[in-house]
Amino acid sequence: MNSNLDQYYERVKELRALLNKANYSYYVLDAPEIDDAIYDQLYRELIEIENIHPSLITDDSPSQRLGGIPSKGFKNVTHNIPLLSLDNAFNLNELEAWYARVRKLINSENKSIKEVNNPELICELKIDGNAVAIRYENGILTKAATRGDGKTGEDITNNIRTISTIPLRLLLKNPPTWMEIRGEAFMPNNIFKKLNLERKNTDQPLFANPRNSCAGTLRQLDPKIVASRKLDFFAYSLYLPEDWEPTDSNFKKPNSQSKSLEFLKNIGFKVNITYETKKNLNEANSYYKYWGIEKDSLAYATDGIVVKIDNFEIQNLLGATNKAPRWAIAVKYPAEEKPTKLKKLIFQVGRSGAVTPVAEFDSIELAGTSVNRATLHNAKRLASLDLHYEDTIIVRKAGEIIPEVIRVIKEFRTVDSQLVEFPQNCPSCDSKLIQEENEAITKCINFECPAKLKGRLRHWVSKGSMNIDGLGEKIINQLVNEGYVKSIADLYKLEIDSLLELERFGEKSANNLLIEINESKNKNWHKQLYGLGIPHIGEANAKSLSKNFHSIEELNAIAKDAPENISNIYGFGNEMKDAIIKWFDDSKNQTLIRELKEVGFSLKESLDLNDNLNQSNIFDGKIFVLTGTLDSLTRDKAKEFIEIAGGKVSSSISKKTDFLVSGEKAGSKLKKAQELGVKIINENELKLLLSEKTKFKNE
Ligand code: IVH
Repeated sequence: MNSNLDQYYERVKELRALLNKANYSYYVLDAPEIDDAIYDQLYRELIEIENIHPSLITDDSPSQRLGGIPSKGFKNVTHNIPLLSLDNAFNLNELEAWYARVRKLINSENKSIKEVNNPELICELKIDGNAVAIRYENGILTKAATRGDGKTGEDITNNIRTISTIPLRLLLKNPPTWMEIRGEAFMPNNIFKKLNLERKNTDQPLFANPRNSCAGTLRQLDPKIVASRKLDFFAYSLYLPEDWEPTDSNFKKPNSQSKSLEFLKNIGFKVNITYETKKNLNEANSYYKYWGIEKDSLAYATDGIVVKIDNFEIQNLLGATNKAPRWAIAVKYPAEEKPTKLKKLIFQVGRSGAVTPVAEFDSIELAGTSVNRATLHNAKRLASLDLHYEDTIIVRKAGEIIPEVIRVIKEFRTVDSQLVEFPQNCPSCDSKLIQEENEAITKCINFECPAKLKGRLRHWVSKGSMNIDGLGEKIINQLVNEGYVKSIADLYKLEIDSLLELERFGEKSANNLLIEINESKNKNWHKQLYGLGIPHIGEANAKSLSKNFHSIEELNAIAKDAPENISNIYGFGNEMKDAIIKWFDDSKNQTLIRELKEVGFSLKESLDLNDNLNQSNIFDGKIFVLTGTLDSLTRDKAKEFIEIAGGKVSSSISKKTDFLVSGEKAGSKLKKAQELGVKIINENELKLLLSEKTKFKNE
C-alpha cells in the first residue's frame, strides 16, 4: 500500500467508526449525538474517498447501507409511494449542469412537449426540518409517517395530529378515496430558543438546532409533549389518484407544482409563500442569492432552495432515479458549521494583554473560505467546552463573523485524552495572568510583554492607522525579538543596518521600508489617534474624536478637566469616556505621546486655524455648498475654514454656486451640481486649496 493510500485508509476507518456510532445513537438509542449537517459532511468525505479509492470500501461502511434502523417505539409504515431524496448542487455551475441534463433528456425522450427547450422552473425554499408523508382517506387524516429509509417510515400519526396547521379534514367537497400530502415539519426558531432555554434551566441536554429539536419532538411517545412544542408544517407535494377529478367548480386538478401549491393552500394546508415561478436559470440564481441574505430574517430555518421543473407532464417524462427525482435539485447554501480535528491550542496575547485561546485544526471550507484557526473567546468559554487535545470540534463561520469553536463532540473523544487548561502565566513573558473583576478577560498586565508590544505595533502599522504595507507580522516579530524595537517610536529610529540583519532584507527593500515608515508621519490626525490603540476607540470613534478635539493636548486636557464633553459626543458614552481617562492617566502612554512627538509626529489636525489668522482672502466672494459626509472635518469646521478664507457657504445649489464640496453618500445636490456644471471638489481638494492658497500649514 502506498503512503497516500495508507493515509486514506486510516481516515476511512475513522470515518466509518464515527458514522456508525452516530447512526446507532440516532436510530437505535434515539439519542442523536451529532447534528445531521455534521453527519452529512462526514458521510460526504467518506463517499469522496471511497470514490477515489474503491478498494477501501468494506461491507460495514455506512455507504453500503440504504437507511437507518427504525426506532422500536413506533410502528413501521410502508410507503406506497417511496419518499425520495433530492440531489444537491453546491454552486451555480452544478445547477447549470442539472438544467442542461434535464433539457437533453426531454429532447431525447419527447419532442412533442412545447416547452422542451426552456422548461419553466419553480423555486422554493428548502425548509430545514423533517419530511412527513400524510395520508388522507375520503378527506380525513388517517396516517402520517416519517421518511425513515424512504421505503419504510415510522407511524407518527398521533403526533402529527397535534400540529394545528395540518387539517384533520380537507376543505374539499368530493375528496378522493386517498390522497397523500408531503411536506416539512419544522420547529420555528423562537420556539426552539425557548425550548432550549427551558432545558438549560432544568439541566437537560440541549438540542443542536431546530431540525434536531423537531426530529426529537416527532419521536416523542406522548402526543401531549408534542402538542406543547408547537411544531409547524409546510406542505410542498401532492399525490392524487389518476382518475380523480374535482366536482367542485372552485377546484381544478393541478397540472404543475405551482398550481399544486395553490391547491394545497385551498384545501387547508399552510404553504410557504416564498415560492416563485422562474423563466430561466438567471432568475433562479437571483432567487438563490436573495434568500441567501434574507434567510436569517425568517422565523424558521432554511438550508438552501429547491429548483423544480414546474410542469407535471415534463416531471413525469423525466421520472426519477431510485434515490431522487430528476426534475428537482436542491441548491444548498455553503455550510457554516463543520467538524474538524483539533491540532493545537495556542493562547494569543493581544495588544491590551487579553489572552485568547485559539484552536488550530485541519483546514476546512467554511462559508466559502478555507479556515484552519478559530477563537474560543476566553477562559470561561474554554472551560464550558470541556475541550481535550485531539477532540473533534465543530467550527462555525457565518458571513463575516470570525470563525469560532462552538461545540465538542465528546462522544468521539479517546479515553486517555488530556483536558486543555488555561495557563496561569503569560505564554509570552511568563508574568502572572490576572482575571479582571466583572470581565470575562484574562489579562497580562506587564507593559513590557513582547506579545503586547507586537500587538501595539501591528495595530500602529495597520490599514486604518499608518498603513505601512512593508511592515508585516513576521518583520515586527523579528524586530521585537532582536531587540531593535522596544516602543512604537523606535520604528522611526530604525537604521538600515538593523534591517539588513533581518531575514530576507536587501539594501533596496530595507531602504524602501525606511522611506515608507518615515512618510507615515504625514498621516491625518484621526489616523494617528486611532493608532494609539486607546481601548474602545476604533476607526470611526477616532474620527469622531478627532473632529471634536484637534490635538492630543486638547483631548488630554478634556479627559482631565471636562470628560463629559467626551461622553456627550454622538455615539459615545461613559465606557468610552472612562477608557480615555484611564489611557491618559497611564504614565506609559504619556511617554508614548512624548516619544512620538520627538520623532516628528504632530498629533494634531494638520489645518490649524490658530496658526493662520492672517490669511489672504483667496475665496473672496466664492460660494460653496457642502454635501455628503466629510472624512476628517465636521461640516462646521469646513464652513469655518471657507469663511475665514473669504468664501460663503450656502445650503442650496444654483448657477451662482462656485464649488460643491462633495463627501461620501452625496445625494441630490451632487446630481444638480453636475447638471448645472458647477465645479465639484472633494474634501482633500478643499484642504489642498486652503493649504496652498492661504499658506495654511499642512503638516
Ligand atoms: S421536494 C422527491 N421541496 O429536503 C423529493 N423538498 O434534502 C421531493 N425539503 O426530503 C422533495 N423543503 O424533506 C422539496 N420545498 C421543498 C423542500 C423539500 C425541504 C426537504 C425534503 C427532502 C429533503 C431533501
